[in-house]
Amino acid sequence: MNQNQRAMVVLISGSGTNLQAIINGVESGAIPGRIAAVLSNKTNVKGLERAEEHGIPTIVLDHKAYDSRESFDQAMIDAIDEHNPNLVVLAGFMRILTEEFVNHYAGKLINIHPSLLPKFKGLNTHQRALDEGEAIHGCSVHYVTFELDGGPIIGQRSVAIETNDTADLLAARVQKEEHILYPLACKLIMEGRLSLEKDGPHLDGNLLPATGQDFSQLEQWEEF
Ligand code: GAR
Repeated sequence: MNQNQRAMVVLISGSGTNLQAIINGVESGAIPGRIAAVLSNKTNVKGLERAEEHGIPTIVLDHKAYDSRESFDQAMIDAIDEHNPNLVVLAGFMRILTEEFVNHYAGKLINIHPSLLPKFKGLNTHQRALDEGEAIHGCSVHYVTFELDGGPIIGQRSVAIETNDTADLLAARVQKEEHILYPLACKLIMEGRLSLEKDGPHLDGNLLPATGQDFSQLEQWEEF
């Protein structure tokens, strides 16, 4: 592995299907960079197995072993910074972050969220979209700020809600879209085509709209 390549650290709490999509993107050469480490706040999760299977160093920091959110986040900063990442990727990392953590990685911390933000911040997004009678739902990638699920949006992919949809069916369809959207966002950032500027995210030198780039029509994300 070329240690001079730009580096990502990926944070997970669970199954890591988005992590897997990013690993696939790196291994195929579509994402120019390496995953320097995967950090989990939970032991024995599938995402850690995925990292190990692909020879990626893992870090487990159990948040329950820390007496405050601040001390846990500081331990994460210390562990992440050993890898000097260009990008920190939250991939199903289910912890609220301190302002200090978010500020420390300002402009290089991204998250994927299972809704078309700014709609349905927080949890149970699929059921809430059904309950509200939405026609369209989806996922968003955004830069992380201290406002929960509220940072500048990079891009989205949408799915149509069908008459007999359940939260589980909808979640599965949205996750398929996440697995296209998230590696694409990582690729664009690692290529230097996407960045957070003072007025918002820029793609290829152009300021993106408030809901980011609509990547819904894209089939071959690797070629974008
Ligand atoms: C993903 O669906 C992601 O959108 C969601 O957690 C799941 C993780 O799945 N994230 C959030 O809800 C963050 N607010 P994965 O571990 O299989 O990638």
